This record gives sequence, structure tokens and C-alpha cells, in this order.
Amino acid sequence: MTNDKKLIIGLFGFGVVGEGIYRVLKQTPTLQAEIKKICIRHPEKKRNAPAELFTTDAELLLNDADINVIVELIDDSDAAWEIVSASLGSGKAVVSANKKMIAAHLAELLQLQLDNNTSLLYEAAVCGSIPVIRNLEEYYDNDMLNSVSGIINGSTNYILTRMNEDGMAYDEALKLAQQLGFAESDPTLDVLGTDAANKLAIILNHAYGIVSDPADIMCKGITQLHPADSVYAREKGYSIKLVARAQRVNHTDVAAYVLPTFVGPRSQLFNVRFEFNGVIIGTRLADEQFIYGKGAGRYPTSSAVLSDIAALRYGYKYEYKKSHTGVDYQVSDNHVLRLYVSCRDINDIVQDDFISIDETYSSQDRKYITGSISFDKLRNAAWLNNPDNSVIVFENPGVAEDHQLEELV
Ligand SMILES: NC(=O)c1ccc[n+]([C@@H]2O[C@H](COP(=O)([O-])OP(=O)(O)OC[C@H]3O[C@@H](n4cnc5c(N)ncnc54)[C@H](OP(=O)(O)O)[C@@H]3O)[C@@H](O)[C@H]2O)c1
Repeated sequence: MTNDKKLIIGLFGFGVVGEGIYRVLKQTPTLQAEIKKICIRHPEKKRNAPAELFTTDAELLLNDADINVIVELIDDSDAAWEIVSASLGSGKAVVSANKKMIAAHLAELLQLQLDNNTSLLYEAAVCGSIPVIRNLEEYYDNDMLNSVSGIINGSTNYILTRMNEDGMAYDEALKLAQQLGFAESDPTLDVLGTDAANKLAIILNHAYGIVSDPADIMCKGITQLHPADSVYAREKGYSIKLVARAQRVNHTDVAAYVLPTFVGPRSQLFNVRFEFNGVIIGTRLADEQFIYGKGAGRYPTSSAVLSDIAALRYGYKYEYKKSHTGVDYQVSDNHVLRLYVSCRDINDIVQDDFISIDETYSSQDRKYITGSISFDKLRNAAWLNNPDNSVIVFENPGVAEDHQLEELV
């Protein structure tokens, strides 16, 4: 797609983000992007847009040769895959915010773009308004990355902030997050860490060229956290955050996980509170850089969608440069974490699973152990899945210590 071509858009979805981008485009006439048709699911709903724009017939958009851009903003990942694959297959450019669909179909989506010489952009799928993907893709295209880590789910961060700072119980904090619109009525994907794992799968591709099955990324959400964990955190000066982390541990292996994490005050993530997101990019040359902002919401998310639509004016495509570096990075379990486990019964935890134990503590209500454990041992530990046990990793767990990267000369 080139500058001289007007963008004629077929929009799927008119919910929080879909209606947002409709309004934003109306106020951005310089972009020369026109929404020709909007496909929704429930025709009976009242819409804040002319009735003739709406249809429930997806084919009307997919088969319209005038429509050269499909903007997919629906909440059904299976239907989204049908729409996006058909659109790319017919040579239309696509903008999507659907992290679940993109993470699940990444390999096929890469191939579809190549086969049809077209573009799929999805900045809004990872941290809403924060330009994570475009930065990884363009700015850090040649600087080798040591790590990408961050708070990439706003719902859980809101809940944890309330638990950490106000001493709220998990259920109370979740209810408040739902009342304020920071958590879905069905929060399962967020609180179990699955949403963050989907986003991490996309980050892994743009940071290291890895195509991974998001189901293989180890993730633990926040449902097992116990009030005693917040007490421990406060005593030690930490804040508990749900952190997604990709970290290079040697020349080919990358550690990848989503785990509750003790974050200290020196970390940029310490002050990422409430519904905000923040991502630290650890680069070999520039050291650490930090991006912060709103990971969700109508207009923050629309801002990323708008930026992607605008990029299509100059024919922008992700080049997936990290897939062509000549290094085949892979997700690996071959690294060590420093871990805290709290439990009701200390005998539930197999202490032999640890490489070393730093501290054990026992009170009537709660016990805990801290120590070092290899990641593959942790992943396979039966006690990890006991809902009475809560597992929190210490930030910067030193995964690279055993594999110090050589200094630049
Ligand atoms: N909300 C955010 O802050 C945010 C942030 C980042 C990414 N995202 C992603 O953006 C996407 C949209 O989220 P949202 O919050 O805007 O969702 P939403 O408010 O629930 O709206 C979903 C829209 O999709 C339509 N829809 C569902 N299935 C459809 C189908 N098969 N064909 C056509 N239309 C269909 C619905 O139609 P009806 O109106 O007729 O029901 C509705 O308009 C999701 O992938 C989400 O993960 C959202």
C-alpha cells in the first residue's frame, strides 16, 4: 500500500476499542482513512454511528475489493482468526488487537503475510498504547537484547496494587477492579496469567525471533497469593507484581515466564501501579530502557490502532528482523530462579527440589521457604499447583550469572 492510495477500512467490532477508533478516525481527516463498513454480532444494539454502516455479514467486508484494510477488533479469538486469515489471504492489510489469536496462530500469520505480500500490524495487542512491538522491531533491530520484562496486564496490576498498598484481600481487590472497569466480568485469562503469556509469546518473536506456543510458557497468575505474602513483601521493602520476563541466558537460550515477582524500589517496575503497564528493555549497548503507559482502555488502545493504520499509508510491514539474525534462539528451562514459596503445611514443599535454601519461616498460620531452584524442577514440581501454596520469584533472579555474556571489546 502506498501514499497515493486512500485507506478504505472494513472494521470488525464496535465495542470498547472498535467504537473508539471509529470516533478517532472521524477526528483525524488528514489520514485519509475511511471506514466503509462495520461488521458486528448483535444488530439489535443501539450504535453511535449511522445504521447503514453496520452489517452482520462478514463476507460483505471480506469480498469488497474496494476495502484494502481490515481492522479486526472483536472479542472472539476463533472468529478473529477466520477474519484475519481470510483478509490476509485476499491481499488485504490487517490491523488487529487480538493477542490471544495472534499468539495462538503466529507461525501461520507469518507465512500468510509472506505468501500474500501483505501486512499484519498489532501494536495494540501488546500493552495497549505503549509502543513495544514497533520499538523492538525498528529501534532495537540490531542491538542484541539481554531481556525484555514488564508488567503487561493492567487488571492484575490494579488488583496487586490494592493488595500491596491497602492490604485488601484478593477477592475484594478483584471486585473493586471489576466495578471500576479495570477487570472483565470473567477475569480468568488475566488473573491466571494467560493474557500476559500470550503477550509474552508475541514479544519473544519480536525480541528474539522465537515462535513459541503460548501454552508452553510457564505462567502463574495471582489467584494463589496469600495475605501473608504481602506482609513479607512490605517487611522486606518489595512490591509484588505479575512480571512477564524474557531473558537471554546464553548465546541461544532464552528464559521465558510469567510469575508473581518481588520487585524492589530500585526497579522501574516498582512504581508501575494500578492499571498501568511498564516494560524494561535490557539492551547490550544501551543498558536498560523503560517504557510506561496505559495498557488498555478505549482511547489508549485506539492510539495504537491509529498508529498502525497510519503506518499502512507508507506500506509498513513488520520485517521480523530478529528471525533473520542467524542465531536460532529457543525458550529454555535451563536456568535458575531465586524463589519464595509460602504454604500452610511446610511438608507440602519438597525441599530437595531446591539447589539451596536461604531461609525457612514458620508461624501458626503460614510458613515460607526462600531459596534457589532450577527452572525445570520448578516447572515440574507437583507442589507448584497446590492452590494452598503461593510462589513468588525474586526480580533479577540472576539467570545470566552462570552464563556471563562476553564483554564488548
Ligand atoms: N478493551 C481494551 O482496553 C483492549 C486493550 C487491548 C486489546 N484489546 C483487544 O481488542 C479487541 C476488542 O476488545 P474490546 O474491549 O473492544 O471488546 P468488546 O468491547 O467486548 O467489543 C467486542 C466487539 O466485537 C463484536 N463481535 C464479537 N464477535 C464478532 C463476530 N464474530 N463478528 C463481528 N463482530 C463481532 C461485538 O459485537 P456486538 O457489539 O454486536 O456485540 C463487539 O462490538 C479484543 O481482541 C481485545 O483483547 C482490548
